[in-house]
Amino acid sequence: MSADNSLSKESPANDSKETANPAVDGSELIRFDKVTKRFGANTVLDSLDFTVSSGKHVTLIGPSGSGKTTILRLLMTLTTPDEGSIRVGGDYLTHEERNGGLVPAGEKHVREVRKNIGMVFQQFNLFPNMKVMRNITEAPVHVLGLSKDEAEERARELLDLVDLTEHADKYPTQLSGGQQQRVAIARALAMRPQVLLLDEVTSALDPELVAGVLDVLRDIAHTTDITMLCVTHEMNFARDISDEVLMFDAGRVIESGSPQKIFTEPDHERTRQFLSAVL
Ligand SMILES: Nc1ncnc2c1ncn2[C@@H]1O[C@H](COP(=O)(O)OP(=O)(O)O)[C@@H](O)[C@H]1O
Ligand SMILES: [Mg+2]
Repeated sequence: MSADNSLSKESPANDSKETANPAVDGSELIRFDKVTKRFGANTVLDSLDFTVSSGKHVTLIGPSGSGKTTILRLLMTLTTPDEGSIRVGGDYLTHEERNGGLVPAGEKHVREVRKNIGMVFQQFNLFPNMKVMRNITEAPVHVLGLSKDEAEERARELLDLVDLTEHADKYPTQLSGGQQQRVAIARALAMRPQVLLLDEVTSALDPELVAGVLDVLRDIAHTTDITMLCVTHEMNFARDISDEVLMFDAGRVIESGSPQKIFTEPDHERTRQFLSAVL
């Protein structure tokens, strides 16, 4: 069992690793190395390089179809790269080191690396047949091996964080979209991932429900040391929480920098065009 099972927020996800605690030491947590992803003749990611340091909040912006969701799905191992490599906390997602060489990763290795990553989708994907509480405790109990009591204690803290304390015993359909999305955020955090991936988490919501979800995410960004990789069209939110913004087009990062730089004086005409369309 890994130290993930401990209730301590400071626990490294894998105590066999040499790094003391990648969650808080500012070291490189995610590395894409010349990652190419094709669907048929369509090259969606084109020899993509980028890194995210632990504790940082990085936002991906760019036009629809530019490959943003594909990046997050690769990190979740929902899809695999055609070329290149992806590392999380120094471990290869798709390979493992054995006898000094790299071999394709076994299922166990993928599961271990994946434990470091949580994702919230545009469509909340809650378990419809489970109450809110069980939506949050299910994976900590079955994947991390927490006792039911431990998992429920953790869930109650998170329900407080996302402002849903009174809704623990409801089913997802009894909640608004904004509330369901906040449950999905709590569910992802219950696994204590080092990285939280957020894919347009407010795009499917009625406009009046967007602010509540963004407030919760701002709170998480400002009060925890979790690393965030975020795809959003909410540019004010991106400006508030991002350490770095990456502008994507056609499967490449065409420019990156501080939110100040990207939103007020981007270098590229393509970035200016994109921002004037969404702002
Ligand atoms: N499973 C798939 N099969 C075929 N094409 C796909 C698949 N997933 C994504 N694509 C294509 O990859 C491109 C990038 O998609 P995506 O990563 O979803 O972009 P974004 O999130 O930036 O809008 C699009 O052209 C999309 O049609
Ligand atoms: Mg997308």
